[in-house]
Amino acid sequence: MSFAQQLKSAGKGHFFWDNYCFFAKQMIITDLSLAKSILTQGQLVAIPTETVYGLAANAFDAKAVAKIYQVKNRPQFNPLIIHSNSLERFANWGIHLPESALLLAKAFSPGPITFVVPSSAYIPDLVTAGQATVAIRIPNHPVALALLSQLDFPLAAPSANLSGTVSPTTAQDVNAQLGQHIGAVLEGGSCQVGLESTIVSFVSDEPKILRLGGLSVESISAVLNQNMDLSDLINNENPQAPGMLSRHYAPKTPLYVDAAENHLNEANYSEMAFIGFSQKHPEIIGSNQIILSENGDYAEAAQNLFAAIRKADALQMKLIIAELLPEENLGLAINDRLKRAAVK
Ligand code: TXA
Ligand code: MG
Repeated sequence: MSFAQQLKSAGKGHFFWDNYCFFAKQMIITDLSLAKSILTQGQLVAIPTETVYGLAANAFDAKAVAKIYQVKNRPQFNPLIIHSNSLERFANWGIHLPESALLLAKAFSPGPITFVVPSSAYIPDLVTAGQATVAIRIPNHPVALALLSQLDFPLAAPSANLSGTVSPTTAQDVNAQLGQHIGAVLEGGSCQVGLESTIVSFVSDEPKILRLGGLSVESISAVLNQNMDLSDLINNENPQAPGMLSRHYAPKTPLYVDAAENHLNEANYSEMAFIGFSQKHPEIIGSNQIILSENGDYAEAAQNLFAAIRKADALQMKLIIAELLPEENLGLAINDRLKRAAVK
């Protein structure tokens, strides 16, 4: 039996999956149904696109998305681009493009352009980094399009490289760096564009270019018949998403990342909310406490983080105490986010 057949016959069981992982590490595959099985089980597959290879997870599965951050060793939760094969499918998931974006999509999608538009309830916080907007893209690559058309979910995918290193443009590049840590690399040859997509935001009145990339500003201007606003550019040297600035994120209730004991002059314990990693605070009222992961699981903690901050805020206490996590694994990105949300 081939690995693909084993995996399919395994259904949701773990025995064959474990064997698959054991024997097939560093595996470059061409079988789309195998890629689909791995993704459906919440594992990661590196996929080819025309720009660069992406490290893909089921965008509706927050725990799978958390693995992207773990494997890339990303110190921050940057929002991720979600990929599918048609605008109709995005519309079915509640994501709609305004008129000017539709003009660009008609001219350049599938292609190296990403649209930032209002998000929908289907999209987990870990994909949008808690923002009300989502970035969508239809990649122009036959293998990616064939895979996406077989999935009943979009794929969240940043470039398939360790944080801070160069984006990969061949399956071998990806395999050399990440093969040990992901389900598979789907073979799609060398990327034709070799540069990440151009990102255009449609959330304010005028479209804005957020990242220069594989589609030129001139070609976008020509279709929209207007000059493009480049005042909010992010780039690879400074990959800070605009939404990561603390002013977009801070809860209304003052949030602190040091010990509750330091704040007894501002509030007593019954006036505090607490966000903890795996254990409750001994003094703060139980119903005012939100635990990110009782098992101390980083992926689960990441999955619950943004909702926890909103929930703590909704308690309308005098202040929120958030416990910083160990500085390892997703603890780094979670702490980054908590520090941004904290009172300076
Ligand atoms: O060509 C590409 O775009 C590749 C392939 C794999 O599709 N993907 C890629 O993803 O370059 P990544 O994660 O390396 O870059 C995504 C960029 C980040 O700079 C992020 O801040 C921005 O997109 N972004 C994502 N969602 C956003 C949002 N809702 N608002 C503003 N910026 C967003
Ligand atoms: Mg990247």
